[in-house]
Amino acid sequence: METTLIILKPDAVQRGLMGRIISRFEDKGLQVVGCKMMQISQQLAATHYEAHQAKGFYAGLVRFMTSSPVLVLALRGNGAITICRNMMGATFGSKANPGTIRGDFGVSNSFNLIHGSDSPEAAERELKLFFTPGEVLNWGRAGEAWVYDMSGGKPE
Ligand code: RTP
Ligand code: MG
Repeated sequence: METTLIILKPDAVQRGLMGRIISRFEDKGLQVVGCKMMQISQQLAATHYEAHQAKGFYAGLVRFMTSSPVLVLALRGNGAITICRNMMGATFGSKANPGTIRGDFGVSNSFNLIHGSDSPEAAERELKLFFTPGEVLNWGRAGEAWVYDMSGGKPE
């Protein structure tokens, strides 16, 4: 099972879209194993997006991410990283396909509602940035046996 870091960005929180976005992930069968609301510090935003430091949009991105509270989620599932990226849609709201979160809820290219880890390495790094080990909970879902076919010994 993979765990990925999702951030509902300031625009998603301000626009009252948290519940609808979380519902999409729960409806899909992903498990919420961590969740907290926080105001991202300058330092944390800079570290999280350090790969983009040289880009023209970097200063605006850090300003945006620190401008208002976010909701940070740890989501778990088989292939969770790719599933979440696909559900998020393309980076720019103007280009994201209908049926995706960015495609359905936004038009802006900068205010694009959601962040999701883009690889297992990124997920490991980002989960450690936003959650202490005790904040990601290993809890068993009552309905798990109907989410995955476990008859072969692994989730299918
Ligand atoms: P994210 O990291 O937030 O999940 O988004 P992403 O992988 O789809 O896109 P990425 O290339 O990593 O860019 C990070 C965030 O920077 C903002 N951005 N603005 N105005 C622009 O040209 C531009 N390009 C990127 C977006 O908020 C994007 O999510
Ligand atoms: Mg990215």
